[in-house]
Amino acid sequence: MEIRNVKGTHDIFGEDSRIYGYIYDNFVAFASSYNAKHIIIPVIEQSDLFQRGVGEASDVVRKEMYTFLDKGNRSITLRPEFTAGIVRSFIQNKMYATMDLPIKLYYCGPVFRYERPQAGRYRQFEQLGVEFLGSDSEMVDVETISLAYNFLKSIGLGEIVVFKINSLGDEETRDNYRLALKEYFKEHLENMCNDCKNRYELNPLRILDCKVEDDKKYIVNAPKINDFYSSNSKIRFEKTLRALDILKIPYVVDNTLVRGLDYYSETVYEIHFKDEDIGALGAGGHYSNLIEELGGPKLSGVGFSFGIERLLSLFKDKNPYYKQVIEQEQIVYIMPIGEESVLKGMEIASKLREEYIPCEMCFDNVKFGAMFKKANRLHASYALIIGEEEIKNDTYKIKDLESATQIEVSGEQLIDKIKQLFFHL
Ligand code: HAM
Repeated sequence: MEIRNVKGTHDIFGEDSRIYGYIYDNFVAFASSYNAKHIIIPVIEQSDLFQRGVGEASDVVRKEMYTFLDKGNRSITLRPEFTAGIVRSFIQNKMYATMDLPIKLYYCGPVFRYERPQAGRYRQFEQLGVEFLGSDSEMVDVETISLAYNFLKSIGLGEIVVFKINSLGDEETRDNYRLALKEYFKEHLENMCNDCKNRYELNPLRILDCKVEDDKKYIVNAPKINDFYSSNSKIRFEKTLRALDILKIPYVVDNTLVRGLDYYSETVYEIHFKDEDIGALGAGGHYSNLIEELGGPKLSGVGFSFGIERLLSLFKDKNPYYKQVIEQEQIVYIMPIGEESVLKGMEIASKLREEYIPCEMCFDNVKFGAMFKKANRLHASYALIIGEEEIKNDTYKIKDLESATQIEVSGEQLIDKIKQLFFHL
């Protein structure tokens, strides 16, 4: 019987993996321009990390974690997100003591959530993001937003996204707001879903995120957090929005945005496609207590993560240059006729690869016509023709497949000539 992939997982290959590479490369370029460095953390962590870090009240911890006992009876969880693991690493490796703050880290890799699969929602998906750790400045929050925006612009999506932004305020703000929400929802609670009943006890802010249609009529009239900001939080949020205005980052303030993970305080944001709700492309925010709650010093952090699958599908649907990005990849197709030519071709291919020129060689015993067809299917930029005559004269033909022009070059000059053509030297 054929073995198929696990429900909610998927393979990324062909065109999609090329776009993935393009997205990743642009992200790394932008993260590096903010002086962020790469961090690689384990896919498995102790389950406690997420229970304490992401929060017992979050859906992710309550319903969606892949948790199991290992052979030593330890409770292990496949990471459902990166932030808690990165903060763990920051504390465990005492990065805060040995490096200048904020420490800026970027990451990429698979995360796991046992959700109901649907379009754009998987059980294993890829996240790409940053965490800037160790500074409480609202300008560091702004830096993460501007990084996310500049990166989206670089892949042609800047014009079609909007940042939804809110402030969850400081402790004082949230204490007062929680009391007001409890007071308000008290009389509606018995008509609301069981999740909301739980949230009422654990974290009433999460009720605002309820997706149950019947509950929405109660939620629209709930008190709004902006009426409860402490003066510090109010000033902080105003400064944040002012900086976004100056940087011309497109945003809307959404006072109902609370986010599904419990570690946030002050600024939170989500990045959406502006014409249609296809789920958030990415999301993030500031956390003032997470580092301390996980056993580290009293320092703040801020970060965001993109879901690569969602970026990828938006890129394919909406980026007018999408085909160009895919076809941009150039290769030289080496076309040998006869056994000696194959060996000569291997020698040339090896020299081209030493010069970082991608090439592929035809090993099928077919005529030139068939080889040219394959070169076109591969979007090859150049074909290199090697037959018995060419070997005898040590002169080879390079055909530009776009302009259909052909030149002859001696063996001695061959690699330099292809390099010139390839890199437009
Ligand atoms: P999150 O909102 O849970 O935040 O996830 C971030 C992004 O991951 C979402 O905006 C979405 O694009 C993608 N995503 C989430 N669930 C799925 C799914 N089931 N299938 C496909 N894509 C999905 C976090 O994970 C936080 N750690 C972000 C953060 C970083 N906050 C501070 N630093």
